[in-house]
Amino acid sequence: MGRTRRDAPAEDRADEERLELREARTSDAAALCSYRRAVLNESEFLLQGPEDWQEDVAAERGIIEAFAHHPRSVLLVAVEHSRAGAMIVGMCTVVGGPYLRNAHVGTLGMAVRRSHQGRGIGRQLLDAALQWGSRPGHLLKMNLQVHVENTLACGLYRAAGFEIEGTLRGEATLAGRPVDLYAMGRFLSVDVESR
Ligand SMILES: CC(C)(COP(=O)(O)OP(=O)(O)OC[C@H]1O[C@@H](n2cnc3c(N)ncnc32)[C@H](O)[C@@H]1OP(=O)(O)O)[C@@H](O)C(=O)NCCC(=O)NCCS
Repeated sequence: MGRTRRDAPAEDRADEERLELREARTSDAAALCSYRRAVLNESEFLLQGPEDWQEDVAAERGIIEAFAHHPRSVLLVAVEHSRAGAMIVGMCTVVGGPYLRNAHVGTLGMAVRRSHQGRGIGRQLLDAALQWGSRPGHLLKMNLQVHVENTLACGLYRAAGFEIEGTLRGEATLAGRPVDLYAMGRFLSVDVESR
């Protein structure tokens, strides 16, 4: 059986990766492009596919700036630091509603590089997004859409308190066939939940 990280001697542990969760900076633009190139080609469960995306570092910088300047939106990245350098391994976006009457609701999207899935990074990104959304003046509710067949993501969202609010029939395609999406939501404020 392979050695677990906890069993590793101290000198090995010193070489281990460190994960940093933070808001994206404009200096992340090139790394974020590499990340997008990877995940868009790896997951059939994302609405955006590789055919919908043009690699453009300047445009990516613009996206990061737009998130940074929007008071109720955030672009969070999970950065792995290792001897090989720093790599963006996960991303989570929350986009606040564009109008006064829905500005309190954020729409969440996230993905983790396949090579790094199953290590708790998705859960940590989701927790960070929920904490960000719960800050005063940010959001009262978080929404998302997920393929009904994406059982892993559905489980992650349920465990974090999201509930299925509806099924959107034939809302996306998977390998060319129409598939349903769940609309899931989670209130962030106890005051709102108890209404
Ligand atoms: C959904 C996604 C973001 C989860 O990220 P992740 O870093 O793999 O998630 P975590 O490691 O935090 O695991 C979340 C849960 O799934 C479980 N899990 C993760 N990988 C698993 C695997 N390969 N097999 C079984 N369970 C797995 C974990 O045990 C964990 O459950 P727990 O909290 O009860 O232990 C990631 O799988 C992904 O990017 N998928 C492709 C894109 C996508 O579907 N995005 C969501 C669109 S709505």
